[in-house]
Amino acid sequence: MKRAIRLIFWLLLCVFCAGCKSTVQAVPAETEIPAVYGDESKVWLPESTDRKGTAEIAGSEAPETEAEEQNTTLVVYFSATGTTRGVAEKIAAITGADLKEIIPAQPYTNEDLDYGDRSTRASAEQNNPEARPEIANAISLDGYTTLYLGYPIWWGQAPRILSRFVESSDFSGVVVIPFCTSGSSDIGQSDDSLAAQAGSGTWVQGRRFDGNVTEEMLKGWISEMEAANMGRSLHIAVDGTDLAVDWEDNDSVRALMEQVSSAPLTVRMSMYGGFEQVGALGIELPRNDRQTTTRPGDIVLYSGNQIVVFFGSNSWAYTRLGRITDRSASELTELLGNGDVTIMLAWK
Ligand SMILES: Cc1cc2nc3c(=O)[nH]c(=O)nc-3n(C[C@H](O)[C@H](O)[C@H](O)COP(=O)(O)O)c2cc1C
Repeated sequence: MKRAIRLIFWLLLCVFCAGCKSTVQAVPAETEIPAVYGDESKVWLPESTDRKGTAEIAGSEAPETEAEEQNTTLVVYFSATGTTRGVAEKIAAITGADLKEIIPAQPYTNEDLDYGDRSTRASAEQNNPEARPEIANAISLDGYTTLYLGYPIWWGQAPRILSRFVESSDFSGVVVIPFCTSGSSDIGQSDDSLAAQAGSGTWVQGRRFDGNVTEEMLKGWISEMEAANMGRSLHIAVDGTDLAVDWEDNDSVRALMEQVSSAPLTVRMSMYGGFEQVGALGIELPRNDRQTTTRPGDIVLYSGNQIVVFFGSNSWAYTRLGRITDRSASELTELLGNGDVTIMLAWK
């Protein structure tokens, strides 16, 4: 079911993303790597030439097995020292995506990666815009509509093996979401360069992460991507009146969004206590109840399965869902304080 929802998300996203980064972009000039990368504020300088935490590329990837049901989301990554792999694994776990590694035919040794020595393999490759290191494994994009593509930043750019991958893949019908890890540099133009080299697919703005990025931060980014790139969000209407809501960034709201994205949810509410409207959602949402004193406009989850919209105040253990931002307290009383109402939650 989740996969069907995601498929619908991304099919729609493909349509909406006409306004996103286009794949038909001017190919950025690939020039010799300058001695200093970008402006001073963005320069990445290794703290020491002693590389720490360097590991050989794992040669023992789990064998790929045929999924019973085709997954439509895939995470593909290249990682020389394991940092990007860690982030890729988290993204795959959150999204339920398949996970595949770009494995270099010739593994990178610690010496190859020594950024203190500009004559080593990684530096030489990055200095040569034509370098295309061989990939050991074939990665098929068949059946996938969303691709998270991860890589480390090497001298301000994506490693050349990424160019090999994107130039040999067909991203037609695929939304590509680049992400990278680095010592400190931002993603810069690396995602644009890869999009230009790929020449197909819908590429959205990429994002840089620390190796120690939390699952919560990644979840926030993933739902932001889904919502913003589709230009759609969770809407609420009371008896047909649309209200602007500032939704919380939490698991409960994400679960509600996912539920509503497949079909609008109509909830019959009952006015209660002279300060709130309460209605059964008909579904259980993740809850993280906290003792809360509500204000007019607050929308909360009660008991994991009821939505409460306040036009007055109450103190109880609730999970916050959001807050109506475009109505005054008296307007809310007018709307919600004159008998039972029906609310409609929709993804549009
Ligand atoms: C050859 C090389 C060049 C690098 N260049 C940069 C850089 O320009 N900016 C930066 O912030 N980090 C740079 N780094 C650090 C890596 O981007 C960072 O450690 C990354 O998280 C490694 O990811 P991985 O473990 O998945 O390979 C470089 C590392 C190497 C090996």
